[in-house]
Amino acid sequence: MQLVTEDNITDLAVERWATAREPRTAELMTALVRHLHDFAREVRLTEAEWMAAIQWLTRTGQISDEKREEFILASDVLGLSMLVVQMNHQLDAKATPATVLGPFHIDGSPELDYAADMSDGVPGATLYLHGTVTDLDGKPVGGAVLDVWQADTEGAYESQIADIDEARLRAKYTTREDGSYCVRTIAPKGYTIPMDGPIGELIGRTEISHFRPAHIHFLINVPGYEPLITHLFQEGAEYLDSDVVFGTKQELVIPFEPRDPGATPDGGTSSEPWLEGRYDFVLQPQG
Ligand SMILES: [Fe+2]
Repeated sequence: MQLVTEDNITDLAVERWATAREPRTAELMTALVRHLHDFAREVRLTEAEWMAAIQWLTRTGQISDEKREEFILASDVLGLSMLVVQMNHQLDAKATPATVLGPFHIDGSPELDYAADMSDGVPGATLYLHGTVTDLDGKPVGGAVLDVWQADTEGAYESQIADIDEARLRAKYTTREDGSYCVRTIAPKGYTIPMDGPIGELIGRTEISHFRPAHIHFLINVPGYEPLITHLFQEGAEYLDSDVVFGTKQELVIPFEPRDPGATPDGGTSSEPWLEGRYDFVLQPQG
């Protein structure tokens, strides 16, 4: 029998976890054990600090539910989410870059027609976002579904609003045969990540800016292409260079140009001034 010492405990734990029946599980778990032990040794982790970390993880789980994803937020602010995105989406330079999903996506958004208004009475400046979805060679991708979601001008997502029973500032738009799409909505504002939970508590002990620049989220999943999860950011918005979840990429920053009352991109007319954003999404073929 081999007795445990501070020197051999890592090897013993690695040996046990290496027995995982699935090779990838064995690889993941043995590496996790090695890195966790190295971390504890490097910082000379105290029992009080270990307990504080356990309680923090417990609170992170307890505050999470089907609408609040505090662990995703933890991963986002640590830069882990964006690292995983970068490693898994090494796309062609012409393809639209991917960013984090974030904690606020809700499945099953209503399907809206070209240029239908997904803001549905939520106050804000009218914004038309339009352009095309194509492949790397510029061939239009018709029938592509754009799942779109965003915060309101107070920075609130639907999942943060209590007692709401219909979709708010989220919708699915389908491209026309020529690959064109048109989203009508309101211009979002930058927002703070939720600061009333364990993540906020930790961020509050640092000088980290807890804001995200104004953006709209897109998820485009078309058979035959790499699923694209990304955002479009408003040029000139605050916090572009300090995004708390590391999600901002230069290629995804577009102007929201002010337009006078008159013709809108869908062929209609607006009696009010409106904003226009143009972006052409380029999908990477699968494989
Ligand atoms: Fe967001």
